Amino acid sequence: MAERLRVGLIGAGRIGKGHARTLAAMPEVDLVAVADVNAESARAVAGEVGVGRWTTDPTETIADPAIDAVVIASSTDTHAALIVAAAKAGTHVFCEKPVALDLETTDVALAAVAAAGVGFQIGFQRRFDPAYAKAKALIADGALGAIETIRDAMRDPAPPPRAYAEASGGLYRDMTIHNFDCVRWLMGAEPEQLFAMGSALVDPSLAEIGEIDTSVVTMRFPGGALAVIDNGRRSGFGYDVRTEIFGSKGALLIGYREATPLLHLGADGVRTDHVHFFLERFACAYAEELRAFVAAVRAARPPDPGAADARAALTLAYAAEASRAEGRPVDPGRWTSAQVASS
Ligand SMILES: NC(=O)c1ccc[n+]([C@@H]2O[C@H](COP(=O)([O-])OP(=O)(O)OC[C@H]3O[C@@H](n4cnc5c(N)ncnc54)[C@H](O)[C@@H]3O)[C@@H](O)[C@H]2O)c1
Repeated sequence: MAERLRVGLIGAGRIGKGHARTLAAMPEVDLVAVADVNAESARAVAGEVGVGRWTTDPTETIADPAIDAVVIASSTDTHAALIVAAAKAGTHVFCEKPVALDLETTDVALAAVAAAGVGFQIGFQRRFDPAYAKAKALIADGALGAIETIRDAMRDPAPPPRAYAEASGGLYRDMTIHNFDCVRWLMGAEPEQLFAMGSALVDPSLAEIGEIDTSVVTMRFPGGALAVIDNGRRSGFGYDVRTEIFGSKGALLIGYREATPLLHLGADGVRTDHVHFFLERFACAYAEELRAFVAAVRAARPPDPGAADARAALTLAYAAEASRAEGRPVDPGRWTSAQVASS
């Protein structure tokens, strides 16, 4: 495709704002319109990045024949219907995670994508973070030998409001879904056994709605490799994202602490600042994932990670919930009878 890809952005909130800046700065993209049901958000973001058109009606953006692709960054409960509408309009889709909070709705949306043959990418941005991408390349090159264990941690700096926890679909579908994708991608395999334990330690009242804010998930992969994911809704110091990959020939430690690469050493101790949250930690990855989406669509290649990855991570969230409820390890294969084969 020689021409610029004409893109519409749907959702101009926390994550959408950053996507707008990335898209507007890409020479190969023409960011045509910004849609958000909140007029002020749509107007402000369109104005900031110099886009002439904004609307409160996302269907207007999707139906616009002058748009080749949409980037969906609206609230999770709107994703599936927007994906279906975009697919029916023959429009390529980049969608923030997750597609939906349940597998049934996810399958309907991904089936529409498959039927229309449009490109689809899910927003698992970690895969585009320089450290994770390098780790994946080193593993593929055999630098680690056979992977034996992966430890993958993610903690938010502070818990979200109670209303968020109630509407988020739960820790596993909202948060751990990133770790599920990350571990299965690094391992290059699907787990055959999963055991999850969780607690409500940060906000014990979450137990009243059966929700948790602290969790450990262990997984066994074919051949015996093991992975541990630990999540929490409170670190107390900033965003905590660390991954350790151990193989037969060595290890990779992915970690990130300082927002500014400056260490202050004094008589009273050693000080540094700390990356606050996901927008700072993954700023580069959010931009890279959109560049990859645009490049794939322009080259008529299937974007990656696609529909199968979107679904696979959600099935592991289902498995974790079932394991926690049943108090025993489960086979995630129970949820993988996919209606959607692959992206
Ligand atoms: N990949 C990541 O690391 C990451 C991080 C944060 C959020 N997310 C995902 O991004 C999505 C948005 O999250 P956020 O934190 O930016 O939320 P947000 O609440 O800040 O923004 C959501 C925006 O969507 C708008 N909106 C709601 N319904 C709409 C509709 N029907 N059409 C158009 N706009 C609509 C809202 O007005 C709001 O401006 C969620 O699905 C979330 O899971 C992903």
